[in-house]
Amino acid sequence: HYRTMSTEEKVKRIRQAKAYFGSELLIPGHHYQREEVIQFADATGDSLQLAQLCAKSDAAFIVFCGVHFMAETADMLTSRRQTVLLPDLAAGCSMADMATHAQTKRAWKSLTELYGNTLVPLTYVNSTAAIKAFCGEHGGACLTSSNAKEMVSWALGQKERLLFLPDQHLGRNTAAEIGIPLEQMAVWCPHKNELERVADTSLEDIKIILWKGHCSVHEKFTVTQIDEKRAKSPDMTIIVHPECSYDVVQAADDAGSTHHIIQVIQQAHSGSKWAVGTEMNLVNRLAKQHPDKQIESLNPFMCPCLTMNRIDLEHLCWTLDLLREGVYQFKIKVPEAITKYAKVALDRMLLSVK
Ligand code: 13P
Ligand code: SF4
Repeated sequence: HYRTMSTEEKVKRIRQAKAYFGSELLIPGHHYQREEVIQFADATGDSLQLAQLCAKSDAAFIVFCGVHFMAETADMLTSRRQTVLLPDLAAGCSMADMATHAQTKRAWKSLTELYGNTLVPLTYVNSTAAIKAFCGEHGGACLTSSNAKEMVSWALGQKERLLFLPDQHLGRNTAAEIGIPLEQMAVWCPHKNELERVADTSLEDIKIILWKGHCSVHEKFTVTQIDEKRAKSPDMTIIVHPECSYDVVQAADDAGSTHHIIQVIQQAHSGSKWAVGTEMNLVNRLAKQHPDKQIESLNPFMCPCLTMNRIDLEHLCWTLDLLREGVYQFKIKVPEAITKYAKVALDRMLLSVK
């Protein structure tokens, strides 16, 4: 009946729940969340900021408005007496699903046969807790788009080469940024269980092994769109998320995390023109918040993240109503055995941040 309930009633109930729980309840909201949800967030941020926020919070209940891997991370960074809830269990991340634990174990076995003990695993936080645990257990760490450069440099200080899971684009863009030539990167295909090399690079020369995963939202931005924007409006600045392909990031004027995109546009001068290559809720919000600037999506058909958008007013209201009755709907609890090692990877990531 939440679908038929009036918006006013849902808003009233959410406000009541927030007042009822006070500081015992924390609602973190990722920048890709819907407007109807983000209005109730106690704090908004990119993945790194929200992880840091949860790590510091002592709220008894965290109702995470984001996707599943973010709620898992929140659970692992908080104490046992804290409860993390995700308003809709179907709010996953298609990229995180592109690397399973079984595939990772199989890849690691094959790669260590090739490279012995010269390899360290790194995973983007957009991955399951089990993948994070795998990395923690094998001397590796997590990273987000905010600290990818630092973490890739750190990893290359540990071992000669690294396996980067699960986003090949963030991995390639980051490695290129720190000066690794594309020829020294290869792609690991989890389905064929084999390494796809560029041209005739020798196995020995490969420094970065990129998992063949991608974001279905950010793959929709292309160099052709950038060319079209520039042709129409030569004074337009193109800013994209580093989950976009290498060619798109190279062709754009700037690339960075959602937080970086927000900061850059906030600081831009009035009258400036922007084409933004990231999720549509964030692009629309930026356009609304900066009416003095021209802000539009790089892709004219916009790009929604379907899973981020699963969290809506109905689900938030339902979760909070049930919470008031003592029912924990969609509680996210990572098993202890996984948390133990995933925390190692997460702590290495959080330590890298000044
Ligand atoms: P940020 O860490 O930049 O917020 O990105 C999260 C994400 O899922 C991007 O697709
Ligand atoms: Fe996952 Fe892409 Fe959605 Fe981010 S935008 S949550 S990477 S599917």
